[in-house]
Amino acid sequence: MIKAKPEVEALTPYVAPLEGRRSLLRLDFNESTVGPSPKVVEAIRGLPPDAYAAYPEYAGLNEAYAASIGAPVENVQAVNGVDAAIKAVFDAYGDKGGTFLTTVPTFGYYEPCAQQQGMVIDEVPYADDLGYPLAAVTKKLEAAPRLFFVCNPNNPTGTMLAPEVVVALARSAPQTLVVVDELYVAFTGRSVLPAALALPNLVVLHSLSKAAGIAALRLGFAIGHRSIVERLRRVIGPYDINMFAVVAGKAALGDPEHMRRYVAQVHEARAWTVGELRRLGVRHHTGGGNYTLVWPPGDVEGVVRKLRDRGILVRSMAGKPLIDGSFRLTIGAPEQMQRFMTAFTAAASLQSGSLR
Ligand SMILES: Cc1ncc(COP(=O)(O)O)c(C=O)c1O
Repeated sequence: MIKAKPEVEALTPYVAPLEGRRSLLRLDFNESTVGPSPKVVEAIRGLPPDAYAAYPEYAGLNEAYAASIGAPVENVQAVNGVDAAIKAVFDAYGDKGGTFLTTVPTFGYYEPCAQQQGMVIDEVPYADDLGYPLAAVTKKLEAAPRLFFVCNPNNPTGTMLAPEVVVALARSAPQTLVVVDELYVAFTGRSVLPAALALPNLVVLHSLSKAAGIAALRLGFAIGHRSIVERLRRVIGPYDINMFAVVAGKAALGDPEHMRRYVAQVHEARAWTVGELRRLGVRHHTGGGNYTLVWPPGDVEGVVRKLRDRGILVRSMAGKPLIDGSFRLTIGAPEQMQRFMTAFTAAASLQSGSLR
């Protein structure tokens, strides 16, 4: 066997259980539960076969996203999903022995990317109430780590920092590249843009995977200072984004009303779901984003299994620091959450009429 480089031999890969989910109600990965705009499907169906044979063309894609957020196109770069942007950030800026500052628990793909580069990982835990560890992070930034990620709102805790606070952190650490993962910005409506366009050490990541409903096609955007976007372009492959994603992305951006309607449905369903959990006396934690943490009474893995038997997927957080015993529940449309609540009440042996 030829060994890979030492960092890769030592790596714990990020593995998501993503098989066999299509026929189930997917409340486990924060995807859209209603799918994309019909205009996306129409656009893909309208592609002639010779579009499959040619390498993809990207004209108009960065422009369409830039227009949707009111940014100059030089500040925007399309990527093969935000995962690819995260990888590109580490490829471009993650030097061996440099410090990667982050919080824990957070999105699972940051850490293996840092490990691949041989970076030193410094993870600050959230507070017991899942509040952001602002004082500790502020102090750590004084040592000018190479890279600092803020997942805002954080997946899976929902913890949200005010954009002004994130910008102040970036200003306090001009030698640190600050990456703000705003994957759930459609649900919060709060962004560090436009400050990210002006500060030379701040970059923001957005995606069409969640609210826009095209997770399978893989399309995201890195938005930031021109100098950062230009460095990311250097490490991204020439044809990393496929033609279907280009066509779908433009069509999705051309129908913002579809996304707005879905976001409104999720807000309504979230309020209802949280109200029900409260009424049942079930511990939960909800912040920004289309998800909430739920601590079922008893064994979480057992409840997750029983929900699956009833055709509903949720993501177990068993064994994770601070959130052990919980599962992450994606909030979908109101009727889907009603279906979840009926199944959950049975799976967790709760009394549907109980008041505590
Ligand atoms: C916080 C966060 N960042 C990034 C990603 C990956 O997004 P994409 O589908 O655009 O690669 C996810 C997906 O769940 C996420 O929750």
